[in-house]
Amino acid sequence: MKQYLIRGGKPLSGVVSVSGAKNAAVAILPAALLINGCCRIENVPDISDTRLLLEILDSMGAKIRRLSPNTIDIDCSHARDSEANDALVRRIRASYYFIGAQLGRFGHARVALPGGCNFGPRPIDQHIKGFEAMGASVDVINGYVCANAPAEGLCGGRVNLDMVSVGATMNIMIGAVLADGITIIENAAKEPHVVDLANFLNAMGAKVSGAGTDVIKIRGVKSLHGGSYTIIPDQIEAGTYMAAVAAAGGNVLIQNLIPKHMDCISAKLREMGASVTEYDDSIRVERTDRLKKANVKTLPYPGFPTDMQPQIAVCMALAQGTSIITESIYDTRFRYCAELCRMGASIKVETKVAVISGVESLTGCTVHACDLRAGAAMVIAGLAAEGTTIIEDVEYIERGYETLIEKLSALGADIRRVEKPDPTTVPSAG
Ligand code: EPU
Repeated sequence: MKQYLIRGGKPLSGVVSVSGAKNAAVAILPAALLINGCCRIENVPDISDTRLLLEILDSMGAKIRRLSPNTIDIDCSHARDSEANDALVRRIRASYYFIGAQLGRFGHARVALPGGCNFGPRPIDQHIKGFEAMGASVDVINGYVCANAPAEGLCGGRVNLDMVSVGATMNIMIGAVLADGITIIENAAKEPHVVDLANFLNAMGAKVSGAGTDVIKIRGVKSLHGGSYTIIPDQIEAGTYMAAVAAAGGNVLIQNLIPKHMDCISAKLREMGASVTEYDDSIRVERTDRLKKANVKTLPYPGFPTDMQPQIAVCMALAQGTSIITESIYDTRFRYCAELCRMGASIKVETKVAVISGVESLTGCTVHACDLRAGAAMVIAGLAAEGTTIIEDVEYIERGYETLIEKLSALGADIRRVEKPDPTTVPSAG
């Protein structure tokens, strides 16, 4: 069992480079199953989520070659029409993209219901609605999603999503690229990773238009060919470093990002008193004076991302005045607040609203990472806090952040990954 040990209270300074987008990579890797040929994917973040998906592809007969930590060749020409490995699938939410990919490639899919961070119920009814609109029959039997295309194959269909869903938008897109005819997704998600998946598929011969707007049109093609593609930078990783500088103080250039994707986060940090300067593909964040209160409501892109909600909460916990966060995407994404309160934060949670009364400082203690972004928030809190913070369950954090320890250490942070002491080896007193 690993844990992070942080000696906080030091401002951050220097340059940090953002990795490839996790939530684009976790859709693009399963989508490679549709391709008849070899595709080279660059800027794949080397995190446990992408390693798991590559293992699943490998178990299905894909030929995978890692040319460097972030460049991977995948050839699914001879992939087997077999089920994705259950034990692996259950460990990662994004395995639901294998439903669209298998259905598109083989005309049927059987995938265990996905796992993932626990933010309350996370149904996939909108994914199913999309596959059904393309003529598939879909049943959930004994914890498996079983989908079958009609004998003549999937055909284009029109689906109006009941809510903006990133996963459903991308999964339906994956299922539709090889269907016969045109599929239209209305009320589609507009996140940067939705656009990135569309660009990847188009680079391999698909005909997807409208990604980035709320109506996406997919004209089915007979087959996809190999090619190469570079994944966009990770909006949330970039935002996490921005929030870390805002909370801990200092002056950092965050490079290899798309400033436009950061608009909402940049605006909020400026409102709170940080200085945020945009360049072509980097952003400098500087914070010297105490932050000011602000309010945030999470919304689908281009609104404030729910995946940045715990990180901005740490900034608010240290700001002057009372801030309010309204979480509108998930039912329970405030479990981490109890951990922050153990560090001295003052937060009251009322179902989907957190009222945060800023305190002058946080103090280090042992906390746990409830999920990926909650874990990132604990790291930020640890960097800003006085004294030593120990973070447990860091496996969650390593699902989504590439070389976090190395990147933060290069910014002057005192952070180490250590083995959790075995309690049985600690001598008992008396
Ligand atoms: N929803 C339904 N039915 C569906 C699909 C979604 O009711 O069929 C609901 C969800 O329960 C939720 C809302 O719609 O309340 C939005 O869910 P969405 O489908 O957009 O989320 P997701 O695809 O499950 C992805 C990311 C999450 C990120 C959300 C929102 C991946 C693998 N996960 O999840 O990322 O929070 O979009 O942007 O791409 C993270 O990276 O830390 C993370 C949790």
